[in-house]
Amino acid sequence: MEELIQRGAEAEIYRSTWKGRPVVIKRRTEKSYRLPDIDRILRRQRTRQEALLLSAARRGGTATPIIYDVDLSAAAITMEYVAGRRVKDCIDALDEPEQQRICQKIGEGVAGLHRQDIVHGDITTSNLIMSRGRMYFIDFGLGEKSSAMEDRGVDLHLLMEAFAAAHRHPDLFSWVMEAYEAAVPWGREVRRKVADIAERGRYVVRE
Ligand SMILES: Nc1ncnc2c1ncn2[C@@H]1O[C@H](COP(=O)(O)OP(=O)(O)O)[C@@H](O)[C@H]1O
Ligand SMILES: [Mg+2]
Repeated sequence: MEELIQRGAEAEIYRSTWKGRPVVIKRRTEKSYRLPDIDRILRRQRTRQEALLLSAARRGGTATPIIYDVDLSAAAITMEYVAGRRVKDCIDALDEPEQQRICQKIGEGVAGLHRQDIVHGDITTSNLIMSRGRMYFIDFGLGEKSSAMEDRGVDLHLLMEAFAAAHRHPDLFSWVMEAYEAAVPWGREVRRKVADIAERGRYVVRE
């Protein structure tokens, strides 16, 4: 039995069970606006990339769902269902010390990924789930292996924008950044990158 729980731009998310375990099946759906051959290659590639990065991140100590099965021709990943709350859905209602704690976990989590030369590519609050006191990272389909400071900056800048767009408290991102800086030796450099990228963004908008 599969139950559709979410239909995103790229994928459908189903809840199901696999050998008695609660799982999520993420299936990338066909896109009719792409040429069929290209569509198949793209879905296959992103599924593969996501599965590889999910497991690499997990091996490196980041909390990510366990992968049970990957079916490249169906562009589907069967993974552990992470029971918890998305940061998107809970952070605004928490009191400030709790928010701070959550942001610290996010910053440490991103640091953990970057230490393994993984950039997530889509760090938004809907791709972060708090579960059993750990911060889970999901949705690695746009991620890549990189140790470039620019890529690390882009990764964090996206989260900055996500916070600014969807959440009220103005300090959320600075708490993330503080925790990140405390956890990696290149923290100041990436902080500067984030500021540069934000500045470039403003410049483009003014033009
Ligand atoms: N392993 C999982 N455990 C629990 N919920 C999940 C899991 N994977 C995805 N979800 C839920 O489905 C949503 C969409 O999944 P995601 O991988 O982010 O796909 P998309 O690429 O469409 O954003 C997430 O925001 C989350 O609510
Ligand atoms: Mg997502």
